[in-house]
Amino acid sequence: MKYWLSTIYSVDEYIYIRFHGTNIVSYLFEMSNYSKVSYKDFWEEKYLTNYTPWDIGEVAPAFIKYFTKEQNQEKKHINVAVLGCGRGHDAFYIANHKKSSIVYGFDFSYNAIRFCNKKKNEINSESNTYFHQVDFFELVNEKKWSTFFDLVIEHTSLCAIEPKRRGEYVNLIKYLLKPKGLLIGLFFMRPKELSGPPYGSTPDEIRTLLQEGFTEIEKLHIEECLHKNKLEGDEYFGVFERMS
Ligand SMILES: C[S@@+](CC[C@H](N)C(=O)[O-])C[C@H]1O[C@@H](n2cnc3c(N)ncnc32)[C@H](O)[C@@H]1O
Repeated sequence: MKYWLSTIYSVDEYIYIRFHGTNIVSYLFEMSNYSKVSYKDFWEEKYLTNYTPWDIGEVAPAFIKYFTKEQNQEKKHINVAVLGCGRGHDAFYIANHKKSSIVYGFDFSYNAIRFCNKKKNEINSESNTYFHQVDFFELVNEKKWSTFFDLVIEHTSLCAIEPKRRGEYVNLIKYLLKPKGLLIGLFFMRPKELSGPPYGSTPDEIRTLLQEGFTEIEKLHIEECLHKNKLEGDEYFGVFERMS
């Protein structure tokens, strides 16, 4: 261990580890530019301990409303990305509703993805869903995802990342979407100064973030919320089209 540390870290860092305990993960958080929410261990622990207050156990009503309205539209094949898919409730709903779609769920929690794959096998292993355990910020490093998606679904992921990474998150969505592709979002709105996660936002901030490269085609508006009493009035739905 001593040898391993001395080969990887500088003397100062080695002394720091020696005198601040052996929790290297905490040490790395402190030394990194990012806070704990940027690391999968933070989220993994939530799934492992079953402390997932954001999980309503079913698809958000806002998505049912949106996709039901879409029912009569052309049934062409589309690719859908669900970023931070968690246990996959939104992904499974969309895949089932739009049978001609292929829905890709991305999450860096092993247990969340394991839950999704187990459910997928219970429903139908041939289903049109794929789940990837990955840090979604890394998707920009894979050429195959560039302009691959017709739809990107955002639901309590923007509020789960560090606010300073929001620009990076928007760039990721731009990378993933085809021209004219849609970002369909259910955004958590609360003043940013509230500590997180969830880190709240405001409609103005979302519009500013998306002003370059997107057109707001369904205006942000308050949507029905299943977290009654707790988040009522804090969830806004909106649709943004990627400019060509
Ligand atoms: C608040 S939860 C929302 C989950 C899901 N959208 C839902 O509504 O149930 C945020 C999710 O995003 C995932 N997540 C956060 N940052 C991530 C990242 N950089 N890459 C991949 N997944 C991430 C977490 O593991 C967690 O499952």
